Order: sequence, then C-alpha cells, then structure tokens
Amino acid sequence: MDESDRVASDAARVYAASPTEGAANHRHPDNPSENPSGNASGNASGNLSPRLSAHPSGNLSPRLSAHPSGNFSPNPPTRDAVLSGMRPTGALHLGHYHGALVNWVALQDRYRSFFFVADWHALTTHYASPEVIRNNVREMVIDWLAAGIDPERSVIFVQSQLPQHAELHLLLSMCTPLGWLERVPSYKDQQANLSDKDLTTYGFLGYPLLQAADILVYQAAWVPVGEDQVPHVELTREVARRFNHLYGRETDLDTRITGLLSSINANLGQELRTGRQAWLEGGDHEALRLAQQRIGQLPCDPANRQRLLGWLAGGGRQILREPQALLTEASRLPGVDGRKMSKSYGNAIAMRDDPAQVETRIRRMPTDPARVRRTDPGDPERCPVWELHKVYCPASVRSWVQEGCRAAAIGCMDCKRPLIDAVLDEQQRFRHRAEPYLRDPEAVDAMLRKGCETAAEVAEQTMVEVRSSMGLMARL
Ligand code: TRP
Ligand code: SF4
Repeated sequence: MDESDRVASDAARVYAASPTEGAANHRHPDNPSENPSGNASGNASGNLSPRLSAHPSGNLSPRLSAHPSGNFSPNPPTRDAVLSGMRPTGALHLGHYHGALVNWVALQDRYRSFFFVADWHALTTHYASPEVIRNNVREMVIDWLAAGIDPERSVIFVQSQLPQHAELHLLLSMCTPLGWLERVPSYKDQQANLSDKDLTTYGFLGYPLLQAADILVYQAAWVPVGEDQVPHVELTREVARRFNHLYGRETDLDTRITGLLSSINANLGQELRTGRQAWLEGGDHEALRLAQQRIGQLPCDPANRQRLLGWLAGGGRQILREPQALLTEASRLPGVDGRKMSKSYGNAIAMRDDPAQVETRIRRMPTDPARVRRTDPGDPERCPVWELHKVYCPASVRSWVQEGCRAAAIGCMDCKRPLIDAVLDEQQRFRHRAEPYLRDPEAVDAMLRKGCETAAEVAEQTMVEVRSSMGLMARL
C-alpha cells in the first residue's frame, strides 16, 4: 500500500475537550503540522472530523526553545503525562482498537504515557463475578501489546498493584462533597441501565472519585477518553482545584517564590513573570502552557515545582494538577450485523479472533438491501460494509467500491474481498505482536512488574506531598 494511501486506522482521532473552558482548550497542545502517528496521511474516510485539531501557534516559540539557560537538566525534560485506563471485562474488539487504542499508540511517542488496567473499577460493577476480572487482566494487556502499545515507551500497569490509588481515593473522599458524585451523569444512568445488578453501593458511587485519584496521582496533563468519560475528567478538575485550595495555601508563598525566581537563570525568571502576567491579565492559555512547560523542566524538588506552578496560575501551591480530556472520537465501526460493534450485541470481531471465523462473519454481513440480485445497483451509503471500507481500505479500493456498487459492476462478495484481506492483515500484525507474550506468559507479568514499579515511583512522589499537606505524618 502506498504511504499516501495509508488508511484511517493508522492516524489518531483525538482532540482536546474541556467544556468548561474557552476555545484555547479545544485543541491539541502540540505541533499542529503533523498527526501524532508521524505519517503524512490525511483523513482517508473523508467524513470523520479532524482527529487532532490544530494548534494555531505552533510548537514552542523560537525564543523559548532556543533558550540557552544553563538551568535545565541535561536529561530529557519531563514531558507532560498522558494517562488512561480500561476495565478488564472482556476481550477487546476492533471497535476498541480503532476507537481508543490507535490513539494510545500515537500518544506514546509524544507524552510520558501511563496505561493501566482498571481492575478496581471493574469490581465496582462486577463485584459479584471475580472470575471476569481474573480471566481478563492479562488478556487485555496482551491486546494492548498486540495493538502496538510498547512497554519501552509506555508505562503499563495494573491499578490494584498500586495502593497509592486507593490511598488518594480515601483522602480525596474526605473533602469531596457527596453532591458532586451524585450529580455525575453516569451514576444514575448506569444504575438504570445495569438494572440486573445492585449498584446502590458505596464503591459505585465513588467510581468517579477513584478515577480522579488514578489521574491526579500521576499529575496527568491529558486523559484520552471517550465522550461518556468527559464528566469524570471534569469532576477530577474540580476535585484538584478544591484540594489545592484547601491544602495549597502557604502564608510564606510569596517569599518562597521570590527566592526561587532569584535562584534560577535571570532570563528564565523574567520569562516566567511575563508568562504569568499574560495569563492572569490577558487570559493567554498558550503563555500559561509554555511557562508550565518551562517549570516542568526545571531541576527542582517537587514541592517547589508545585509552588511555582501554583503561583504561575494565580493560586496557592499546585499539589494536584488539573488534567484535561483528550476526546477520543467514538468509533463508528459497525459489527457484523450492521449495528454498532459492541460485545453486548454479540456482533464484535475480537482483535485476536480466529481468521477463518472472521472471514465467514464478514462474508455473511448484511449489505445494501437494494442489492437483491447481482445485477441490482446499490448505494454504499446504505451498506454497513462500506463503513468498514472507510476504515480499512485505501482510496483506490474505495473508489472501486463506490463505482462498482452503484453500477452493479461488482458483486458484494467481490466487494468484501479486499476488506477481508485488510482485516486479516491487521489481525496478523496483532497476532505477531502478541505471540511472544502468548508463548511466555511470565513475560507479561515481568513487563507489568516493571510498569508497576515505575508507576509507583511517580505515584509515591505525589502521595508524599498529599499526606504532608493534609497534616499526616511522613512514613516513619
Ligand atoms: N472509567 C473508565 C472507563 O470506564 C476507565 C478508567 C478508570 C479510566 N480510571 C481511569 C480512564 C482514568 C481514564 C483515566 O472507560
Ligand atoms: Fe455494500 Fe459493497 Fe455490496 Fe455495495 S457492493 S452493497 S458497498 S458490499
């Protein structure tokens, strides 16, 4: 396949969303001129909205990026963190891949990426069926690896191995108003939708707060999630803001800031003051972001970094960072019955399904009902199979489908052939990446162990600050 012909599946479908803030948040924080997968492909399907909305001002301004300051550590600068999780409740299917995982894969090159198995979250709804969790944690991780999540570039871990998530959840619960949780839309919706389960539990009410703890404990800047999860990220922002307000006040903050600014390179100090002014007086999000980035690169201890970040934003010390949702465009991939692909409809093609099965099921997929006989012309817009072509097939095949279908020049079986080949080809790549881990299950655990260790270091740093700001003793 020609590179310029690359299909939509290789590009990311994310853009920033923050309903409560201005337009400045509705764009991707990084370089506008390339999509995150680094290839030059446009949008093969033509009808999906831009996957990454462009950032108008470009990357770092030359003034900043060329800064000769000796105050930066020679190590790679701390990049903003991205964090996301999934509940281990079943095998992942092509909808998960094209909806979420493609984005994760693209993000892992530009951010410090944390991806975790939300097994505690799964228990909030599946507390009565531990076997679901037991059977799916490693399988889901293998699906991630199959998708191209790379343990060398991303931190992959399991929530329940990190007691810091639970500890932060508990501590946040002290100062989170009950009404904030009762108000989260998924709370009442899910209780109604999953009426076969008793969800009037303490844990289920706390679900979004546990999610807030997941995010805040890594100081994540970006959280790639689907639309349904945006209210949870919003709640996370409110919780962080309240926490910083309650515990980030320090009477000597001004003196400390003056001291800190005079200890760093004078140009940089000035730059931070100017950035702060542009933000506080002009509402300049970009100036705020650049200054935050500079502070992120300073070689200073976490508490001082939080003081600088809080001062920059115009408040007290920023103990917890407010994250933003990176909205993942919902996958519109149809399942084999033409409805949206979903495990609960039984119409999903799993990422690592048996090839013969996949072929049969696509061959049996319904097409445009107008094409009763081979000689009846059809309309791809009325055919669920076409939705798959849009994701899987290059432009040349797509125009062959369009013309052939409308002129009855091709039959539906002809039409499905290149699609089946493309799906099988993709699955072949999945199986290839999964194979070493399937052969050696211990390799999965070893990889996860390493991920958990890295995650613990980061999470523990946050917890040290959280405990002490809340008046708790340091570890004896
Ligand atoms: N609630 C998310 C879901 O159901 C899973 C999740 C848990 C999550 N913790 C998270 C997602 C933190 C992003 C960040 O899909
Ligand atoms: Fe659908 Fe292709 Fe058949 Fe047209 S030819 S109805 S697009 S499967």
